[in-house]
Amino acid sequence: MDVTGKGRRGEGASRATTSFVRGPSRPRRSGARSAGLAGLAGLVGLVGLVCVAACTPAPIEQPPLDVAVFPKVAYSGYAPSGTFKVMISTGADAPRWAVDDPSVASIEPAPAPSIPNTDVTGLSFALLTTKRAGETGVRMTSGDKVVVTRLVVTAYTDADLAAGKARYTTPSTDGARTPCIQCHARDGGVGVDHSPLKMGGFDAPAILGVIERATYPDSPSGQSITSSFAPRGPLSFAQHRWNLGDAERAGVVAYLRSLPLGGL
Ligand code: HEC
Repeated sequence: MDVTGKGRRGEGASRATTSFVRGPSRPRRSGARSAGLAGLAGLVGLVGLVCVAACTPAPIEQPPLDVAVFPKVAYSGYAPSGTFKVMISTGADAPRWAVDDPSVASIEPAPAPSIPNTDVTGLSFALLTTKRAGETGVRMTSGDKVVVTRLVVTAYTDADLAAGKARYTTPSTDGARTPCIQCHARDGGVGVDHSPLKMGGFDAPAILGVIERATYPDSPSGQSITSSFAPRGPLSFAQHRWNLGDAERAGVVAYLRSLPLGGL
């Protein structure tokens, strides 16, 4: 199963905002490339106008950006024994990256990820590695353009990570507690990628909605509008409603955020 070829991702193709909100890693329809990244600034303006009427911005939402950087708000975590990385991307030329508070995370340019059916031509990538819980601005400079996005790092404990890993991998005879790894094993190229490359644009409630209720948020509010994939609404796999205990809820999100990034 590839990570982008699900029917669900085609559903919103006719919506006015999707050419921007779907983000840079979505396969582009033919012809879209010529409008391409140079046209993103205009699209951002359009999204801004549309959103005045139609969008409910999350509190963390930032003003429209005149150069695309994805995600606009990146979510990750920190725990003493895990390594948490989250990817950020831009269509801007020759970007330079910095974090405002280097005690929260470091950032370095990264190679383009390799994801089936996904065109990353013309995009540049960077990897944030978290150092502690907290928040910081992430600054992308390209020529005279500066775009500041946000990194939100949640504090997790090693016990969270252990609980998440156990839920992820432990066999069960209860169908609602099927180990995640049964379908999400990525070795050998099978399984759905939900490593931080994909999840970085979603906060914990959104990710838990996918896991427990088989749905992404419906509206393109806040963080999700600039996720690299920015899927929306119900999964095509409607039975994706897994049982999680309280400790497992934080733990699974922590564990997902600590997985090595898919496609790198
Ligand atoms: C029976 C197979 C199966 C099991 C078990 C399973 N998943 Fe999934 N999961 C899927 C499929 C298939 C998708 C993609 C659904 C779609 O795109 O419509 C998915 C999507 C996801 C996504 C969203 C990523 C994306 O590609 O959109 C997350 C996050 C996720 N699963 C987490 C989990 C967690 C955590 C568990 C264990 C608690 C789990 N899954 C168990 C099959 C499974």
